[in-house]
Amino acid sequence: MREQLEQLKNSSLQAVAAATSVEALQEIRINLLGRKGELTALMKGLGSLDAAERPAVGQLVNAVRDEIEAALGSALEKAQESVITARLQTERIDTSLPGRRARKGTKHPVSLVIEEICSIFAGLGFAVAEGPEIEHDWYNFEALNFPPEHPARDMQDTFFVENNLLLRTHTSPVQIRTMLKQKPPVRIIAPGTVYRCDSDATHSPMFHQIEGLMVDSSVTFGDLKGILTVFTNQLFGQKTGVRLRPSYFPFTEPSAEVDIACVICGGKGCRVCKNSGWLEILGAGMVDPEVYRHVQYDAENISGFAFGMGIERIAMLKYGISDMRLLFENDVRFLQQF
Ligand code: PHE
Repeated sequence: MREQLEQLKNSSLQAVAAATSVEALQEIRINLLGRKGELTALMKGLGSLDAAERPAVGQLVNAVRDEIEAALGSALEKAQESVITARLQTERIDTSLPGRRARKGTKHPVSLVIEEICSIFAGLGFAVAEGPEIEHDWYNFEALNFPPEHPARDMQDTFFVENNLLLRTHTSPVQIRTMLKQKPPVRIIAPGTVYRCDSDATHSPMFHQIEGLMVDSSVTFGDLKGILTVFTNQLFGQKTGVRLRPSYFPFTEPSAEVDIACVICGGKGCRVCKNSGWLEILGAGMVDPEVYRHVQYDAENISGFAFGMGIERIAMLKYGISDMRLLFENDVRFLQQF
């Protein structure tokens, strides 16, 4: 057995010295020290030796094993190192390659339209105002002359929170908040999110509006039409102007729906304008004296106009979007086009 061990040691060390690759060394280790390895077999054979001989041979087996392990270990380390050296010599990292650029998002079409409208009105001397989306019934309805239980409230059904709080149905409460904060002259626009109990291809339960309010000593209906004409001509880049139709809102008197010439057909009549040649884009009117009473303005000595428009509708007209829901699905392929 001692001889066998000596032989195995010599042949193994030779094999290790001759091996050149990591794989070859691993194979040697398995053949010697694996479950069915040669040295393992010898170790198992120890049991059949005389009890007197066993300790000495046992020690020898261990010594041989340690020696082989040590030789294998350092040979493996060298082999692994030479693999790395070889790679370092042949593979080159090309530091001149451009990095991977992080993909930049694009602005949402609704944001683009809000920004454009705000900048047009900034040019006309309007400041930007804001108000909360969860609004008190008083600002959203009562101060705007929708008394409790009044049927006009049905025009704007909404989502109610407790304690007379609700999701605002329009940006008009910002009119009230602004007038309570400052004395005339007032010239503001108020963009923001609003909510209504509505959902189909042209209505979303959440959408955006821009409110406008101008109050001064002698603001007229002519000023309203003039401002809206300048505004729509700039926004849609056409010189077709606006058309006002009589309408009703509790907080303006007189009130009007405002149309622009159809941006698709230029007024000749098409599917989008339902052959009328006109597209409705906003509601407007002269501020009702009842509203001034709620904000302690002197209705006798001032006058003003207000208007409110839906942003999604304007974005759809401006970019030719056929379904409002596309604006809220957040499909990057859609959004990237703007
Ligand atoms: N707030 C009205 C609406 O949402 C629009 C409007 C605003 C009308 C201001 C007149 C004046 O329908």
